Amino acid sequence: MSKQTLERILQSQGFGTRKWCSRLIADGEVKIRGEIVSDYRIAYETEGLEFSVYGEEWKYREHVYIALNKPADYECSRKPSHHPGVLSLLPEQFALRDVQPVGRLDHDTTGLLLMSDDGSFIHAQSSPKRHIPKVYIATTDDPVTSQLVAQLLKGVKLHDEPAPLTAIICKMLNEHQLEIVLEQGKYHQVKRMLAAADNHCTALCRTEIGGLKLEALSLADGEWCYLDEAQRALLAAP
Ligand code: URA
Repeated sequence: MSKQTLERILQSQGFGTRKWCSRLIADGEVKIRGEIVSDYRIAYETEGLEFSVYGEEWKYREHVYIALNKPADYECSRKPSHHPGVLSLLPEQFALRDVQPVGRLDHDTTGLLLMSDDGSFIHAQSSPKRHIPKVYIATTDDPVTSQLVAQLLKGVKLHDEPAPLTAIICKMLNEHQLEIVLEQGKYHQVKRMLAAADNHCTALCRTEIGGLKLEALSLADGEWCYLDEAQRALLAAP
């Protein structure tokens, strides 16, 4: 439980500098339980606090945990260069509170992308020590063969990796699609593994992280949702 002044609360939620937040309050743009609050010095209990800014409802969140159904042609990098950044798909408050992608998907990869402003969550989710399985559906240029599946399961050598990289599960879905489950997250890993096995990935979608399935979230392309505690607990478990 912690009490904070309204201007500090708004600042922590990404509404701008303290000065800007106190201006919002003084201008009558902030309401709590439907009533304008115009004194920025009043302290509120943050837990469970609901408020509106410019008529839009918000709930106080110490940290945000987000799942985005990433469309193609968005970059995960902080300074996107060729395509818009994934943060442009979220309310602008999230960039101001330093929400960032957990790991990266290539600009042309679609599917489940986690985002958060909780450093320890980002660190834990990205740690290779945790062996969190990630499921990808890869579309291939050349037909999928049983030899390709066997090769990906046995391991393929990439020139800058000391040991061969393996898929922990690899299934043929149809003539040009594979389901690949990886526990590592090396740069362009699926594409490079397919290239090393003499095929070529033409489309890639991440469908699961741990036990969290994109399908269960019912997000259209480019849509996002908050993840609750139960959904976050699924992230580690297969
Ligand atoms: N592997 C890739 O090649 N690209 C991604 O975006 C994710 C995994």
